[in-house]
Amino acid sequence: LDNGLALTPPMGWLTWQRFRCITDCQLYPNECISEDLIKRTANIMLSEGYLEAGYNYVGIDDCWLEKKRDKNDRLVPDRERFPNGMKAIGDFLHKKGFKFALYQDYGNKTCAGYPGVLGYEEIDVESFADWDVDYIKLDGCNVDISKMDTGYPYFGKLMNESGRPMVYSCSWPAYQKEPDYASIAKHCNLWRNWDDIQDSWSSLSTIMTWFAENQDTIAQYAGSGKWNDPDMLIIGNYGLSIDQAKVQMAIWSILAAPLFMSVDLATIRPEFKEILLNQDIIAIDQDVLGKQGLRVWNKSQCEIWRRELFDGSYAVAFVNKRDDGTPYLIKASFDAMSIPTNIYEVQDLYNEDEDFSFGPHGNFTTRVNPSGVKYYKFIPMKLNELSQEKFYYV
Ligand code: DGJ
Repeated sequence: LDNGLALTPPMGWLTWQRFRCITDCQLYPNECISEDLIKRTANIMLSEGYLEAGYNYVGIDDCWLEKKRDKNDRLVPDRERFPNGMKAIGDFLHKKGFKFALYQDYGNKTCAGYPGVLGYEEIDVESFADWDVDYIKLDGCNVDISKMDTGYPYFGKLMNESGRPMVYSCSWPAYQKEPDYASIAKHCNLWRNWDDIQDSWSSLSTIMTWFAENQDTIAQYAGSGKWNDPDMLIIGNYGLSIDQAKVQMAIWSILAAPLFMSVDLATIRPEFKEILLNQDIIAIDQDVLGKQGLRVWNKSQCEIWRRELFDGSYAVAFVNKRDDGTPYLIKASFDAMSIPTNIYEVQDLYNEDEDFSFGPHGNFTTRVNPSGVKYYKFIPMKLNELSQEKFYYV
C-alpha cells in the first residue's frame, strides 16, 4: 500500500502469541491483556534497548474490548483492564517514543468473540483515529470470506480518509484459498498469508515450508510499503531451543518479514534477548532494497535461504531440519547458494566464527546443528581489499 508507511517491515511487540486471551487479572496479574501489561512492556522496551534496536510498535491483539458496544454504537475497551481508555494508552506510548498498534476484526465478531467492525466501519475508524492509533491489524474471523475482496479495501479507504496515518495489517489472504495478491499489496501494508504460529519448532518449521513452497507466488509482491507476514516471533517463550530461535530470526530476516516479538520481556532469558537484539540481522530484515529472499536449495532436509541486499551483498542461511541428532556438514556451490561467483568477505551473523574470505573456487562448507542455522553475510570484496593480511582465500 502506497501510503508512505511501513517503508521497511514494521517491528514491535504484540500480545497474542504469548498472552493470548488472558483476561483474568486476579489470577494472572502479570499476564492479562491490560493497560498495565502494555505499560510494563513499553517501559522495558525503552530501558533495555528494544526500541533503540527498532522495535517501535507496541500492540494489543484480541481481547481488549467489552462484549458490547455503547449506546452510540462505539467500541468500548474493557473497563477494568483498560480503566483509562485507549487514548490514554496511545498518549503513554507516544510520550515514550513508541507507536500504538491495535487489533480488530473485519467480521461480526473477533476470533475470540468480541464485537467486530462489520457494519460499524466508519464509526470504528473514527474511534481509532481519536485514540491516536498508528497501526491496525484487521483479522478475518466471522465474516463471509467472499466479502473480503471488497471489504478490506473499503476499510483501508476509510483509514486513509481519516487523516491519521495508520499502518494497515490485513489477515485477508490467510482466510482465502486463492488470494488476489495484486489487490492485497495495493490495499495493505502487510498481510498474514497463512496459519497462526504456535509456540513450537514444528509450527515454525511448517511455516517455513509453506513460505518456501509458495515463494513463486508471493515473494514478488513484497517491497517497500507491502510485506508478506509469516506471523509473530516466538523467540524467548517455551517452545524453541536457542538454535531454533536463531533459525526463526534468520529466516524472518531473509523473508523481509515484519518482526513482532510476542514474549514476556520481564522474564526473557538473556540468550533469547540477544537473538532478538542482533543488530546485523535486524539490518538485513530492514534492508532498503526490500527484496524478499527465497529458499534456493533443499536437499536431505537441509536448506539454503538467500536474500539479496541493497549494497550488493547477500544474506545466506543454512538450515538443518534433520532430527538425526548431530551437526550436519553442508557443502554448497555458488549455484546452490544462488549467488554470483566471486570473492567474498564472509561474516557470521551470529558471531560463532571469525570473518573469513571465500571464493572464487570450490564449495562453501559449514556445519549446522540439528534444527539449527548458520547465518552469513557474503560481501563481495574489492580488489584492493584482497591484499590485506586479515583475508585469505581458497
Ligand atoms: C487469528 C490471528 O491470526 C491471530 O494472530 C490472532 O490475532 C487471533 N486471531 C486473535 O483472536
